[in-house]
Amino acid sequence: MFSSKISGLGSYVPENVVTNDDLAKLMDTNDAWIQERTGIKERRHIKKGDGNSTSIMGVKAAIIALERAQLEPKDIELIVFATLSPDMYFPGGGVQVQDLMGMPTVPALDVRNQCSGFIYALSVADQFVKTGMYRHVLVIGSENHSGGLDFTDRGRGVSVIFGDGAGAAVVSRNEGGKGGILSTHLHSEGKHKDELALQGPSTNYWVPQIIKENPQENIPYYPYMNGQFVFKHAVVRFSEVINEGLQANKLSVDDIDMLIPHQANLRIAQFIQHKFKLPDDKVFNNIQKYGNTTAASIPIALTEAWEEGKIKPGDLVVLAAFGSGFTWGSAIIEWV
Ligand SMILES: CC(C)(COP(=O)(O)OP(=O)(O)OC[C@H]1O[C@@H](n2cnc3c(N)ncnc32)[C@H](O)[C@@H]1OP(=O)(O)O)[C@@H](O)C(=O)NCCC(=O)NCCS
Repeated sequence: MFSSKISGLGSYVPENVVTNDDLAKLMDTNDAWIQERTGIKERRHIKKGDGNSTSIMGVKAAIIALERAQLEPKDIELIVFATLSPDMYFPGGGVQVQDLMGMPTVPALDVRNQCSGFIYALSVADQFVKTGMYRHVLVIGSENHSGGLDFTDRGRGVSVIFGDGAGAAVVSRNEGGKGGILSTHLHSEGKHKDELALQGPSTNYWVPQIIKENPQENIPYYPYMNGQFVFKHAVVRFSEVINEGLQANKLSVDDIDMLIPHQANLRIAQFIQHKFKLPDDKVFNNIQKYGNTTAASIPIALTEAWEEGKIKPGDLVVLAAFGSGFTWGSAIIEWV
């Protein structure tokens, strides 16, 4: 078995800032409600004509991550691309990254695990590096939520929360052998699949049937979220999976130098912080600026924390996520 580490991080968000007041012009909502319930002040949305898409934003983040890892696209042996908002129904975003970055015919794998997509993708990369099959794997989380949200009153419970952006990490063999990605822990509970979901268009519910069965004003091709149900499960699962990761490595909460929770909702992150009695400087949040960017949220936050000098070699970094599926997971990293 080899050791693995994150050798480079990058992120990209579209320039277009959408404030809560901007959304209040489109639907019956307001800045106070959004901030009080979620902590979000603004988010980024792709603007028509700005040249962005899920895969293109992923490439922009990946270019930065590769540069910081001092690698070239040709050095990457596997792409793992996490998103719930791909440019196309199929093929996935990974193959588009391979093409756009001019990589050789490396394998490209898409991960569809929504808000825990990055942790799942990181785990896949980790296994391939630890077994010795690959030396460098590119992991991307990218989302174009604004392309598929309902910006009318009907969608306000969901649409105010989500934002666009991408983050990337290069997972490499840790030649030093010490530290790096210590472990990842993954879970799912499909019985709650309908609580945060986009039902169609899907092979189970294709376009003509949707149109036939629903009045024009209520076509269900927007995401549905049972907010309070999701919230209640999130706080439990976040805590469990962080504890699971710590215990697997014989570590305790006191060993955590930086917790980066998936940026679902500031209230969820604060609940976890208080539960684990972590001081403010040991938890990183940036949902205030970007909203919930699903698979992109952890790599964007991890990149910003690293850029701000909040993660240093030797630090114990804990990543944790929960989301649609339900799926959830954690990663325990000794930064090298
Ligand atoms: C979505 C969430 C912010 C809603 O907060 P909440 O306190 O549960 O609010 P509710 O859904 O009960 O709605 C309360 C009221 O606000 C209204 N409301 C919903 N969205 C609104 C908006 N954007 N602006 C203003 N009012 C809104 C509701 O219609 C409801 O009105 P009513 O009382 O007249 O019926 C909260 O449940 C949440 O964050 N859940 C977790 C979501 C999450 O993390 N998702 C990602 C998981 S990865």
